[in-house]
Amino acid sequence: MGMRFKDRVVIVTGAAKGIGAGCARVFCQEGGLVAVLDVDDTAGKSLVEELSTAGPGRAAFWKCDVSDDHRIAETIADVAREFGRIDCLINNAGVHPPATPFEETSLDDLESLFRINFFGAFAAAQCALPHLKQTRGTIINMSSMTAVLGQDQSAAYSSSKGAQLSLTKALAVELGREGVRVNAVLPSNVDTPLMRDWAATLDDPESALQRVADLQVFGRMAQPEEIGRVCLFLATEDSSFVTGQGIEVEGGASLDY
Ligand SMILES: NC(=O)c1ccc[n+]([C@@H]2O[C@H](COP(=O)([O-])OP(=O)(O)OC[C@H]3O[C@@H](n4cnc5c(N)ncnc54)[C@H](O)[C@@H]3O)[C@@H](O)[C@H]2O)c1
Repeated sequence: MGMRFKDRVVIVTGAAKGIGAGCARVFCQEGGLVAVLDVDDTAGKSLVEELSTAGPGRAAFWKCDVSDDHRIAETIADVAREFGRIDCLINNAGVHPPATPFEETSLDDLESLFRINFFGAFAAAQCALPHLKQTRGTIINMSSMTAVLGQDQSAAYSSSKGAQLSLTKALAVELGREGVRVNAVLPSNVDTPLMRDWAATLDDPESALQRVADLQVFGRMAQPEEIGRVCLFLATEDSSFVTGQGIEVEGGASLDY
C-alpha cells in the first residue's frame, strides 16, 4: 500500500457496511480522512473504531439519512469543519427492494426509493460542490450494471441507478471547467449484506448466491474492497483525464453473449 490519499478527505455515504465500508477501508489504508455517513450508528461507530485502530488514516462517523436533504446539508458542513476540506464524495448509500413486478410497483414506493438512491446523491453533490471546487475534487456515484442491462422485476431500482449514471454525465460536463471530475462505478454482484439479505428471501439462499457468483467469468462475486480500489483510482490523479464515465466493474458478467 502507498499513501495515495494522505491527508485528503473522502465522504462515503452508506459506509457502515458493504461496498461503502470497503471504500472506507481502502481510503483509510491510503492515509485518507474518512467521513463515514450512515443510518446504522452501531455498525458505523464500530467501523470507525476499526479504522482508527488500523490507520494510517483517520475516520469519524456521522449519522445521516441521505433521503433527508436538510440532514445531508448539516452533515457535509460539519465534515468540512471537522476535517478542513473535502476532496471526494462517494454517493454509495442505496437500497434494493425485493423483486416486484412493474405493474405492482406503486408511485409511492418509487418515490421513496428515488429519495434514497437518487435524490440523496443529487443533494449530497450539491452540498459538497463548493468544497470540491476548492480542492478540484471528485464525485463518484455508485450506480449498478442494472443501469445499462436492466434487471427483472426491478424497474424502480434499475431506473434509480440509470438516473445516477445520467447525473454523472451531465455533472461531468457542467463541472469540467471547474476541475471537478464526476464518474460512476457500475458493479455487477458484490458480496455484501444487501446481497445476502436478498438471497435470504429466497427458498435456497446458498444456491442462489452460487448462481449469482457464476454470472462473473471468475465464478465469484466481487469483494467490497475491489470496488473501493476502483474508487481510489477515480479519486486520485491516476485518473486525471477520466470524467463522465460509468466504469463497469463487473468481473466479465456482461460477456459471452
Ligand atoms: N451488492 C451489490 O451486488 C451491488 C451491485 C451493484 C450496485 N450496488 C450498489 O452499491 C451500493 C451499496 O450496496 P451494498 O451492497 O453495499 O448495500 P448494503 O445494504 O450491504 O450496505 C448499504 C449501506 O447503506 C446504508 N444505508 C441504507 N439506506 C441509507 C440511507 N437512507 N442513508 C444512509 N445510509 C443508508 C445501510 O445502513 C448500509 O450500511 C448501493 O447503492 C447499491 O445499489 C450494489
